[in-house]
Amino acid sequence: MHRLDGLPDRVTVYEVGPRDGLQNEKAVVPVEVKAEFIDRLADAGHRVIEATSFVHPTWVPQLADSADLLARLERRPGVRYPVLVPNLRGLDRALDSGVEEIAVFASATESFANRNLNRGLDSQFEMFEPVVARALEHGLRVRAYVSMVFGDPWEGPTPVGQVVAVGRRLLDLGCHELSLGDTIGVGTPGHATALIEAFGTPERLAVHFHDTYGQALANTLAALRAGVSTIDASTGGIGGCPYAESATGNLATEDLVWMLRGLGIETGLDLDKLVATSVWLAERLGRPSPSRVVQALTPKD
Ligand code: HMG
Ligand code: MG
Repeated sequence: MHRLDGLPDRVTVYEVGPRDGLQNEKAVVPVEVKAEFIDRLADAGHRVIEATSFVHPTWVPQLADSADLLARLERRPGVRYPVLVPNLRGLDRALDSGVEEIAVFASATESFANRNLNRGLDSQFEMFEPVVARALEHGLRVRAYVSMVFGDPWEGPTPVGQVVAVGRRLLDLGCHELSLGDTIGVGTPGHATALIEAFGTPERLAVHFHDTYGQALANTLAALRAGVSTIDASTGGIGGCPYAESATGNLATEDLVWMLRGLGIETGLDLDKLVATSVWLAERLGRPSPSRVVQALTPKD
């Protein structure tokens, strides 16, 4: 273990595999497999697991079973199970399922707002504002995402000021945390640092990197150096976004934990159990995990 100056002692890993990972699978994963997956993640030490989403079921059929999943889930004390919610209809459904934490998800670009939310850059807020207000009235915690923070496939690079404007608006609604989503994985460490510094409040930020161009860990290190200590990651590196073709896998949780462990940063996660979960899931999905660490730590026959 070799520490580096200027990094946090502890990092919260915000696990998105059951939501961001499974929303992009071609096949619909059976609900009992999802429930076991989430329970295995809790057993491996995760304290925050984004479980599913309450979006329109025809938009993301892979997660249409969200109410059924939450009814089956044995929610463990001390573990948070946030869900994605786009609008009031989604919030009603989430509340009916006894959810205690939600995440709204905005876009930093007009094109992706249109494709992912059927709304414009500005009108997406008409959808989120009443959701956040009502969720806070019900005592829920509300996270916010902003997607396409470094660039999008239709508009090219996203101006830093545009991301900060969308992100600040979300924080001002009362969201406790803002996750910066590099949905198509085009960011590099200098860009990540510049964006975090432009916000000026790293303690309220999380980062959500996709590994499309192999930059996710480098960007994570830059974010840690800039004062961020909540990192989104997905079991085995699964994931993507059905409304952004070029979005491939998220930063793999195991790759993240390997780096953090080497840096002497606490996560509370058991790497062996994480790898075993990824291998178990890969068997169910019918293809190997894209995570380098999972591959390296899995015995070859
Ligand atoms: P819309 O078609 O504009 O919806 O979709 P609407 O408000 O016009 O309503 C149309 C009908 O749908 C109505 O029914 C509603 O009740 C119903 P009708 O009255 O006609 O019978 N409806 C719903 N039903 C169930 N649950 C709901 C719901 N909402 C409306 N929640 C909408 C707008 C936002 C709903 C749609 O665009 C949508 O669901 N989008 C979500 C797409 C998605 O989940 N994308 C992936 C997640 S984002 C992501 O991956 C990025 C992230 O990971 C970060 C990163 O990587 O950067 C977070
Ligand atoms: Mg994502």
